[in-house]
Amino acid sequence: MKNASPFLELEDGPTVRVSFEQTPLELPDGANLAAALLGAGIGRFRSTSISGAPRAPFCMMGACFECLVVVDGVTRQACMMSVRAGMEIERPDPTPPDSWSDSEEPSEVDDAKA
Ligand code: FES
Repeated sequence: MKNASPFLELEDGPTVRVSFEQTPLELPDGANLAAALLGAGIGRFRSTSISGAPRAPFCMMGACFECLVVVDGVTRQACMMSVRAGMEIERPDPTPPDSWSDSEEPSEVDDAKA
């Protein structure tokens, strides 16, 4: 009997090859990218620019931005994308942009006071 849930069909569906941090991965074709990466054992999608703390998908609906990855050179929300063959996925550079001056750069101390 066929189940109505599309999630239960992922294990038997076709897979495609992508790369994550230059490591090849086989992910379910057309699956949600964030879910597929989590399912492949990727536990850190990015690091914060302030403390370097690891981040991974949280909301899975485009609200929290914890799932940011760089796909083919463009920073994207993994939870808002589908897996397709040949994706080159990297973790974003956690270095703050050069345009930040010292007075503008947030700190954990400032965050704690707010
Ligand atoms: S997991 Fe929250 S925006 Fe993607």
